[in-house]
Amino acid sequence: MRQHVNPLSRFFQLEKDLPGIQELFDDTDLPIHLDIGCGRGHFLLSMAACNTKWNFLGLEIRESLVIGAEKERVELGLNNLSFLFCNANVSLKNWFLNFSERKVKRVSIQFPDPWFKKRHRKRRVLTPSFLSLLAENLDTGSELFIQSDVHSIMNEMVNLIDLSKCFNSKYSDSQLSSISNPFHILTEREKYAKKKGLQVYRKLYYRNSNDIK
Ligand SMILES: C[S@@+](CC[C@H](N)C(=O)[O-])C[C@H]1O[C@@H](n2cnc3c(N)ncnc32)[C@H](O)[C@@H]1O
Repeated sequence: MRQHVNPLSRFFQLEKDLPGIQELFDDTDLPIHLDIGCGRGHFLLSMAACNTKWNFLGLEIRESLVIGAEKERVELGLNNLSFLFCNANVSLKNWFLNFSERKVKRVSIQFPDPWFKKRHRKRRVLTPSFLSLLAENLDTGSELFIQSDVHSIMNEMVNLIDLSKCFNSKYSDSQLSSISNPFHILTEREKYAKKKGLQVYRKLYYRNSNDIK
């Protein structure tokens, strides 16, 4: 992995104007799967090729990875996929407000951050306010998928989601290590974890009809 960036630095706290869905996809009627922290985009490149009835949008804070992923997307001629360079915690709110047309029906946060240490907690993607933003913008029945090979990070995400009371799952928290990947396409980190024999924790949620507190 190339050098990580500090999402709290002044540069990454500047909001970016993200393009609307007309500029991102050929068929704007399709539901959108949003992948937060998509890395080099290998997961989305395969998902978009196999699932032509969905649009896919990857957000990534490291610009060089987005440039590489976009290059591959163009080479593969995938018009149901886009990658955007931004700090999701800073720039997604206005995109939802101005452009998403409530088309986002699935969000994935897979092996998020490199920020395992407690003192770096503030740099993590899934904060309480970010979860509220997702809950506000997902209709009942929309999916939220999380996975990680770091047990403490997974537990924190699960606790946060449970506390919000906005998402249900058919899986219990004791099943985190036995749930398989529902998409059958591995992310870059997931391939690495598999190769190294690391335990991966996963959970798939559905937005329920509860209001956000
Ligand atoms: C450990 S990597 C995992 C990449 C990919 N999801 C995978 O499973 O292979 C986490 C990714 O999230 C990105 N990231 C971290 N914080 C972010 C943020 N606030 N906005 C967008 N991307 C972020 C990092 O740059 C990194 O590429």
